[in-house]
Amino acid sequence: DWTMAEYRATKIAEIREQVGDAKVICGLSGGVDSSVAAILIHEAIGEQLTCVFVDHGLLRLGEREQVETMFRDHYNIPLVVVDAEERFMAGLAGQTDPEKKRKFIGAEFINVFEEEANKLGGADFLAQGTLYPDVIESVSFTGGPSVTIKSHHNVGGLPERMNMKLVEPLRELFKDEVRDLGRELGLPDIFVGRHPFPGPGLAIRIPGEVTKERCDILRKADAIYLEEIRNAGLYDAIWQAFAVLLPVKTVGVMGDGRTYDSVCGLRAVTSTDGMTADVYPFDGAFLSRVATRIVNEVRGINRVVYDYTSKPPGTIEWE
Ligand code: XMP
Repeated sequence: DWTMAEYRATKIAEIREQVGDAKVICGLSGGVDSSVAAILIHEAIGEQLTCVFVDHGLLRLGEREQVETMFRDHYNIPLVVVDAEERFMAGLAGQTDPEKKRKFIGAEFINVFEEEANKLGGADFLAQGTLYPDVIESVSFTGGPSVTIKSHHNVGGLPERMNMKLVEPLRELFKDEVRDLGRELGLPDIFVGRHPFPGPGLAIRIPGEVTKERCDILRKADAIYLEEIRNAGLYDAIWQAFAVLLPVKTVGVMGDGRTYDSVCGLRAVTSTDGMTADVYPFDGAFLSRVATRIVNEVRGINRVVYDYTSKPPGTIEWE
């Protein structure tokens, strides 16, 4: 029986004990878990911690700026932001197979992270926001025992040659407890309550080839959708909501002209752990409002559809 204030104090003592005066690197994803881990560790060892945030060009609108503001300005935590958009786009060019896209992104992510770690002169410890469910779950948490449905990737799984010891101060916690700890550490509610976002980012929400142009289109549609969800007061009732940009063009009419543009899919689910999910039942007026705004405001999209598939048999992401 412990409170989050006690947990915080205990972990800070443990981290100091474990790390001594060595250097620690933490890969930030912009998500809640790695952020909470970084803030806790920074409280324990201050400037011995450096955070690395890889901008692979597959982030949502404003996400990089939010992370920079939070860590540099608000918490004063040393942060290296790596602009890796070009190399990710170059590597994704011509790739349409979901698993190949995922594998490339996972491997390139490690390359970038390792390069940055070397530039910092290496570190003895790698910090990760591993949670209790990650510890007890099998590797492929969407798959059955022998099928890999998707190759999930996180900041975890760095190559052994990097030879770093792990600091994982959230290993005893569940997601809701991490959120409590985040609040205890002063993280704003809007950050603590964020929907999960996958490591491969927008790439797995753009079936077919990923280009910067398509990422930009999707970012705009996604931002409108999320803004409407927040305005309707629905954000916290939904586990995850996002837009998808389909590699299909359909005919439409705008003013007195013909359009021939892409289809945007909308997804929103409720879930407790992401392993199963139900479709969030928006009312028709809400979906019409979002569809109208997206088609009117986002050049390149002329049709919007809502994904009514639960998991299983669908997965949450489209790839
Ligand atoms: P699926 O699509 O498998 O997603 O039903 C279940 C949950 O996992 C997230 N997801 C990922 N998270 N790296 C991550 O960190 C990944 O490669 C990845 N793929 C999917 C997904 O957003 C959902 O919350």
